[in-house]
Amino acid sequence: MPLKICLTVLYDSEEHYIQTFQGEYRDLKCLIADRLFTENFGDCGGMGRCGTCIVEIEGLRASAAALKRNESTTLGRSAQNGQNIRLACQIPVDDSLSNLIIKVIGS
Ligand code: FES
Repeated sequence: MPLKICLTVLYDSEEHYIQTFQGEYRDLKCLIADRLFTENFGDCGGMGRCGTCIVEIEGLRASAAALKRNESTTLGRSAQNGQNIRLACQIPVDDSLSNLIIKVIGS
């Protein structure tokens, strides 16, 4: 039985409680785009280059907390910064997201 993952996403002034399981989505960008039908979110398809999938997450643990691949360069070009600012496309959907609150910022 796949591991159930529950998280809360804040988008467009609304709070969305989402349940998924490990393996259903490749990354957090895919999950948010699929479940919330976000507009102009994830334009590069998850390459870590466009900076349109920015989210704010507090409490990421272990390896999920480290910036991946192009993430620091892309975030450096954006107006958003801070230790909890991340690219959703670089965050795998696994147990490290359980019970966290994720705020969609976009670009
Ligand atoms: S989808 Fe383009 S940076 Fe994440």
